[in-house]
Amino acid sequence: MDQPLLNDLFALDRAHVLHPNHPVHQDIDFIVSRGEGVRLYDTTGRSFIDGRSQLNCVNLGYGYRRLVDAIKAQAEELSYLSIFYQFSHPQVITCAARLAASAPGDLDHVLFTSGGSEAMEAALAMVRLYWSRLGRAKTKIISRYKGYHGGTASAMAATGMAMGGQTSIQRLISGHVHIPAPNLYRSGAGMDPEAYAKLAADQLAEAIELEGPDSVAAFLAEPIIGVGGYVPPPPGYWPLVREICDRYGVLLILDEVMTGFHRTGPRFAADNWGLVPDILVAGKGINSCYVPCGAAIVSRRIVDVLAGARLSGFTHSGHPLAMAAANAAFDAYDQDGIEDNVGRIHRLMMDRLQGEFLALPHVGTVEGLGLMIGLELVAEKKERTRLPDKVTQGVVGKSLDQGLIIRARDGRLALCPPLVISEAEANEMLDILFPLIRDMNA
Ligand SMILES: Cc1ncc(COP(=O)(O)O)c(C=O)c1O
Repeated sequence: MDQPLLNDLFALDRAHVLHPNHPVHQDIDFIVSRGEGVRLYDTTGRSFIDGRSQLNCVNLGYGYRRLVDAIKAQAEELSYLSIFYQFSHPQVITCAARLAASAPGDLDHVLFTSGGSEAMEAALAMVRLYWSRLGRAKTKIISRYKGYHGGTASAMAATGMAMGGQTSIQRLISGHVHIPAPNLYRSGAGMDPEAYAKLAADQLAEAIELEGPDSVAAFLAEPIIGVGGYVPPPPGYWPLVREICDRYGVLLILDEVMTGFHRTGPRFAADNWGLVPDILVAGKGINSCYVPCGAAIVSRRIVDVLAGARLSGFTHSGHPLAMAAANAAFDAYDQDGIEDNVGRIHRLMMDRLQGEFLALPHVGTVEGLGLMIGLELVAEKKERTRLPDKVTQGVVGKSLDQGLIIRARDGRLALCPPLVISEAEANEMLDILFPLIRDMNA
């Protein structure tokens, strides 16, 4: 693109675009015009490996043929239909049936939305309606510190970290209680992982007791802490949590917006532990973000109690293009060896990360499932001393200069490339990262 035109774009962006999670009035650095495979290209011709799949969502990378063709064909066939009232269309029916067939346990009804946050709102509304129809005053939602559940009002209230200007919204909505999320490296150092898992799960039981089991509607959590720092739970945690929810009659809402669709290996992260939640909230990888889409996948037991109710929805619920893209993504996940690739690249990355990387003085721990890997940088290894955030962000900045997009939070670098990444591309990512960590000024 020629320079005057490019200058115009930067000026117009500065004048008119508000960028989420970027300081208002601070200029942006890149205008991206094209993507292919795992790479993005900006208007100056620079290329980047997308080591974070954007917001951990472009599971199938850019320009995936099945999805592009399906969206084009659907736009010609039926570009839009609202599924409010008595209307439906083949793509939404097929997609719901495929989600029901692949979701854990008896989760077999789907409410579609335009994204993860809306699906979270829908899930929370359904849970409260469920209990009120049973004549129970169970309304409180317990979730976890460091958990992220979205940018809309209730999802933000359930989120367990301060989100910039949104903290005021978080405080406005009552009925949300937070407990710590397990972090073996940080709060269970030296402990037997099973004993630590029990300790962490017991914090939920304690919170339910303290709040009063008759007032608690649901426990809401991500299977693996995502935005809050890429922290997987100790083995044994989830089965214990399920047992506690059952013991107290508390519903379990699993937020798989980030972890769903093979990000951690299997179709859903829940499958890693044979976990069956009561509602599973999905988004992002459902169609690799080719068209905005989210879904609350709900247990038949809950839906039966809601019989006859009119649920709220959204103009884009079950949008034909989103559904066509999701059905094409299902074909890709089912037929194109995606899960095998995740396993292969996970092993390659973990071999290097737990070998040469972990041997570096500032790498504290490497943990992850599938292609959702967190690498914690520390000032001092033995004491696990935290680094100032600007040092970790410095690594993120330098890697961007070298053509690798990653992100970091809470001292952890998040490595989550598209699930279609090749061995050569994964090695290229790590080759860029290694000297930056080895030579960083901590
Ligand atoms: C775990 C989790 N839940 C919910 C959301 C919100 O989804 P969306 O941004 O599509 O509304 C996100 C987004 O990052 C997420 O990571």
